[in-house]
Amino acid sequence: MTTLTLSTPIDAHVHLREGAILAGTVAATARQFAAAIVMPNLKPPVTTVAAALAYRTSILETLPTGSTFTPYMCLYLTESTSADEVLRVSQEPSIVGFKLYPAGATTNSDAGVRDLLANCQPALEAMQRLGVPLLVHGEVTDPTVDLFDREAVFIDRVMLPLRAAFPALRVVFEHITTLQAAQYVMDAPASEVIAASITPQHLLYNRNAIFTGGLRPHYYCLPVLKREQHRIALVKAATSGSARFFMGTDTAPHAKHLKEHACGCAGCYTGLHALELYATAFEQVGALDKLPAFASQHAAHFYGFAPITTVITLRKTDWQIPDVVDVAGTAIVPLAAGEKLGWQMVG
Ligand code: NCD
Ligand code: ZN
Ligand code: ZN
Repeated sequence: MTTLTLSTPIDAHVHLREGAILAGTVAATARQFAAAIVMPNLKPPVTTVAAALAYRTSILETLPTGSTFTPYMCLYLTESTSADEVLRVSQEPSIVGFKLYPAGATTNSDAGVRDLLANCQPALEAMQRLGVPLLVHGEVTDPTVDLFDREAVFIDRVMLPLRAAFPALRVVFEHITTLQAAQYVMDAPASEVIAASITPQHLLYNRNAIFTGGLRPHYYCLPVLKREQHRIALVKAATSGSARFFMGTDTAPHAKHLKEHACGCAGCYTGLHALELYATAFEQVGALDKLPAFASQHAAHFYGFAPITTVITLRKTDWQIPDVVDVAGTAIVPLAAGEKLGWQMVG
């Protein structure tokens, strides 16, 4: 196979940021994707429908005329999110749900949730009743839990009690990184509405990538890369054909100097080349035929998006990922900078 044409994908998890960089992140994502779900972890976080719609307008304003890219938004869940706010989300087609950030788990999560089941009952009850999805950053923040175990422990401490208390809640387990999470989503009974997004970095790399030849901050994201057995389980899930798994790049740009820092930020930038990275991961296991459904149909089905009517084409050709890219004035190091990729988007 030398070219691959598929419905233009949907990125179910993207950080577009705000301010000057926004024009660059939006252009990059709109080049590869027909639609994307935009994360709300701004400063301050996007906690209301009004704020999400204003953010959405600022995204649309950066698009060239004629672009059909559709940004979908989600709200940042806090311990004071009201049932009324959930109702407003349910009435707004461009806002897909709420994002759970356990307080302290990741970038700009300080305003997040300390105790989901104790302190978010009214919002969760309304979300379940109105069919509004909860998108979950699934890691515990208990400092006594080993960093590499935080996702697996989250399943036991938060996900299982949440599912027991709200069995009809629609849940997306975001950017899964472990065998346990893949299995949990795969094995959930058919009556449960649950899905998971998977990033390109977690399909391509294990945790050795962070330490090969020295400390490599551009391979550091959260949840952190895990052992090889977990990567293999994620590839199996992504290429299984199960509609519960879909693309969510988690492209998370941070300026080069803030990644290459004594306390470097978490996040991998894949706005430039996410599709080529996914194609590489699928090709490695001979599963390119499974890429189109993973890339758009599964997410469209889960979220009820309109079918995609455009296509993109990838060609089998070698090219080198640049060492650094200028994203609307900010120097950013893309994932796998300097490495060769065997696929390239050509239109
Ligand atoms: C994300 C970011 O930088 O906003 N970072 C990351 O490592 N994934 C936050 C997140 O998705 O957890
Ligand atoms: Zn996250
Ligand atoms: Zn993210």
